[in-house]
Amino acid sequence: MKIKIAPSILASDFAKAGETVEKLEKCGADYVHCDVMDGSFVPPITFGHQMVSSIRPHTKLPLDCHLMVLHPETHFEEFRKAGADIVTVHVEACKNNLIDNLRKIKSLGMKCGAVVNPDTPIEKLFDCVPLADMLLVMSVFPGYGGQKFIEETLPRLETLRLFCEKNGYPDKDIEVDGGVTEENIDSVLHAGANVIVAGSTVFRAADMAKTIGRLRG
Ligand code: DX5
Ligand code: ZN
Repeated sequence: MKIKIAPSILASDFAKAGETVEKLEKCGADYVHCDVMDGSFVPPITFGHQMVSSIRPHTKLPLDCHLMVLHPETHFEEFRKAGADIVTVHVEACKNNLIDNLRKIKSLGMKCGAVVNPDTPIEKLFDCVPLADMLLVMSVFPGYGGQKFIEETLPRLETLRLFCEKNGYPDKDIEVDGGVTEENIDSVLHAGANVIVAGSTVFRAADMAKTIGRLRG
């Protein structure tokens, strides 16, 4: 199964966003992970579709937009116009319209994904497995980069991978987000994740290309 590395630009200097994504592409990243925060679903505010639109001309890499926002459905069209490739929405922000939201994202021609926080039962993702292009398991509470990986994420990833395999979706993309380092990457991959978000680990690296290479396990 293909391992994809998705550096999060949250850990980078926003003033140089264009150069940053050009560098990520040269260094072998597979996706650019864009952490969109609204100050309500999570305390901080980061950036929105305008940032996505600004970096779009600087890279061919898919832009993986992680929406940590309430009422995400009010923004899908903007992200599509901005050039987003993948849009992921939180189960906790969607309540009764999760499946509907995934369908809306797809109908706009983007890939869709569902995200769970560390304290949301992993089973909440099960209904999304057939429809979602990607399932995202948070390994820290969303809102901030540079946090410590929550170890309990590993059995949750195993449960989800097993569910996907047993139900005919062995190659489903399972993304993990938060606290991934060169020290814990092997256990993360072993547990079943194949799309790896890494903010601090990539942007603090002395040699970004080497670090991205090592994160492939
Ligand atoms: C947390 C974000 C993550 C975060 C990852 O709310 O969703 O993408 O930036 O950063 P690191 O890798 O530093 O934990
Ligand atoms: Zn993220």
